[in-house]
Amino acid sequence: EPQAFLRHDLGLSGTHVGCEQGVCGACTVLFDGAPTRACLTLAVQADGHALTTVEGLAADPKQLHPLQQAFWDAHGLQCGFCTPGMIMTAVDLVHRKGHDLSDQIIREELEGNLCRCTGYQNIVESIAAGAKAMAKSDLT
Ligand code: FES
Repeated sequence: EPQAFLRHDLGLSGTHVGCEQGVCGACTVLFDGAPTRACLTLAVQADGHALTTVEGLAADPKQLHPLQQAFWDAHGLQCGFCTPGMIMTAVDLVHRKGHDLSDQIIREELEGNLCRCTGYQNIVESIAAGAKAMAKSDLT
């Protein structure tokens, strides 16, 4: 499974192993730009394709992507387990629906990402703020 390959072979531990059944969204990565459950994908399927994990959002590891910064600023996480998957889902959401996102759209789009801690309100606020910040950033 790619999340095992990513975490153990490549040392990219940002992609979390959650339910392993495609339900929780914690392992979401971008596969040729589309949000994909790493737990339901074989590593060999990724051969020759572009795979982006949360580590790849900012070129400089000391820099945060605007969505990462927004999660930090708006307290969009508690334990953090769901966070990388939330952020990868949100990146795709901004690519598809733009920078001005209503709470309702964000909540609908997060249906496939489960959070056991936050009650979602701060996540929604983080994504709305991060989406706006992406409009002014080099990081997309
Ligand atoms: Fe803990 Fe979302 S912050 S699962």
